[in-house]
Amino acid sequence: LDNGLAQTPQLGWNTWNSFACSMNETVILQAAEKIVSLGFRDLGYEYVVMDDCWSAGRNSSGYLIPDPEKFPNGVADVAKKVHAMGLKFGIYSSAGTLTCARYSGSLGYEEKDAAVWASWGIDYLKYDNCYNQGEEGTPKLSYDRYNAMGKALNATGRPILYSLCNWGVDGPWNFAPTIANSWRTSGDLINVWDRENVNCPCSELLGLDCKTPGYQCSVMNVLNKASYYPSKSFAGAWNDLDMLEVGNGGLTDDEAIAHFSLWAALKSPLLMTNVMTSIDAQTLSILQNTAVLAVSQDPESSSAVRIWRYYVDGGEIQLFSGSLSGGDQLVLLLNSSPKAREMNATLADIFWSDGPGGTASEIQSSWDVYDLWANRMSNATANSIIEGSNNATRPINMTALGGSESVYK
Ligand code: GLA
Repeated sequence: LDNGLAQTPQLGWNTWNSFACSMNETVILQAAEKIVSLGFRDLGYEYVVMDDCWSAGRNSSGYLIPDPEKFPNGVADVAKKVHAMGLKFGIYSSAGTLTCARYSGSLGYEEKDAAVWASWGIDYLKYDNCYNQGEEGTPKLSYDRYNAMGKALNATGRPILYSLCNWGVDGPWNFAPTIANSWRTSGDLINVWDRENVNCPCSELLGLDCKTPGYQCSVMNVLNKASYYPSKSFAGAWNDLDMLEVGNGGLTDDEAIAHFSLWAALKSPLLMTNVMTSIDAQTLSILQNTAVLAVSQDPESSSAVRIWRYYVDGGEIQLFSGSLSGGDQLVLLLNSSPKAREMNATLADIFWSDGPGGTASEIQSSWDVYDLWANRMSNATANSIIEGSNNATRPINMTALGGSESVYK
């Protein structure tokens, strides 16, 4: 969306994965304080987003009102305090009659809701797809509902980042880029590395049936779906692979490193969801990897492209690559098989994202390789760069080189 926002994928924190409906102003303000004091704000994590369950319905004039128990001082007061910390504040609703947790939705109330949010100082809207009255099934129906809110936000005159949460329904990568800053590519990411079925089946873990909104997906489910649409995202309009599960306990450290690297490489918004007041050192070091954040926020890079994908040893291995500013190249080798293995890629593979097999100068040059996770340098030459072995616990790990790699001229 050409509204000047999200020129690079948005960075921030959201209440949902850790707090769900148990959030309130204390939860939000404590998280915001930690985002500042732990240094996240200064690394670019800017948006604090309040997800579902904040309202107490509508007043007699049809305007949404905050839950007085969760927000005794009102939402505008929280926004003001978040702003005073140098951060921006986001809110949540659904393009339906109810939100996914069955609070008041915004379908038919777009102008009133946008106006009240703007008056509260809201900077970001996450807009869901629950209870949409059957107004989906063709891109036109989804477009109209989401466009109605986009127009209402625009009419407020306040810059409000517009983030669609319609789980990939009706192909948002096709209809959303002109009306929104980001759109979800699949169902909800849960705290699980891998599960069979790239279509994100409903969760046996949560006992949901297939008609329940919010399909449940593993990291690999989401990755494999989003990998088909890298060319659909650009500055101001991003594929959203859903919020980060780093630090939420379900992934090993190595899986969390791979998850964070992949989300950055594919230029997804990076919304943390961990409990900030009890963050551990490893979570902090993953979420604050400045080299990986620089890939995410590189103004000249676009989403990395999957060059190959093979099924091996009861799992899969993949190579992603993409160009970075200054003529550099991002390379990411993923071993999601249960076994440790040697992985390598030729320069022709790596530069395939620039066109078939890359150019002669790319392939014949000598390249330095910079490990984004270990800050180790090595020299790379044509056709044999990046070789290494994986240890059993780390999905991306090359002996000499570490995790996701950037090739520097
Ligand atoms: C849906 C969304 C989630 C979250 C919940 C809130 O499932 O996909 O990200 O916002 O609704 O109810």
